[in-house]
Amino acid sequence: MSITITWHGHGTFSLNIGGTAVVVDPFFAGNNPAAKTKADDVSADFILQTHGHGDHIADTVPLAKRTGATVIANFEICSWIAAKGHEKTHGMNTGGGWNFPFGRVKMTPALHSSGLPDGAYGGDPGGFVLTAESKHIYIAGDTALFSDMALIGKIGLDVAILPIGDNFTMGPGDALEAVKLLKPKVVIPCHYNTWPLIAVDAPAWAKLVAAETAVTPVVLGVDETYTV
Ligand code: NI
Ligand code: MN
Repeated sequence: MSITITWHGHGTFSLNIGGTAVVVDPFFAGNNPAAKTKADDVSADFILQTHGHGDHIADTVPLAKRTGATVIANFEICSWIAAKGHEKTHGMNTGGGWNFPFGRVKMTPALHSSGLPDGAYGGDPGGFVLTAESKHIYIAGDTALFSDMALIGKIGLDVAILPIGDNFTMGPGDALEAVKLLKPKVVIPCHYNTWPLIAVDAPAWAKLVAAETAVTPVVLGVDETYTV
């Protein structure tokens, strides 16, 4: 069985895992200047929320309400979403994992912040290791480089999804170091080119990854899909 990973621009992805639709950090057209797809046109059974910033959560509540999806996030974000009228959430915290019907989700640390759009406390930011269909996929979320990425990589990652945009997260240089620590089979860059502030030449970065590591870089266009 395979997993499809579709990039919608910025940090937003939708995965199809054996027929289950899992959306990561909903930020779609109308809010996300890089996106082509509207939240209204997306199906979701589960939503993975890395942190509370608007460029990751802008479409979460409406998408969750329309689809009835379960939102998986840290406890504080789940409480905030429940207060907005969507109680189907699953609260977790850093280092914890849970076996969902589609696979196992473990929450990883991220070096970032996590305030919610209305100023509410959003707990700690995170990432996820998703294990399903005998594959391990690391979704870093917004983060700086940290050396414990080497520990995350020990599981044997099939795919790592990393921010490369600089300014708010790792830039291309630190993301290259992250690839060397994580040692995935494939790396997919994200969180770049949404605005001029995070403009990055992703094909040039991919060439560096290919030259300096044994990892295969996959640069997706918006709404393009990679199958693992
Ligand atoms: Ni952020
Ligand atoms: Mn962000």
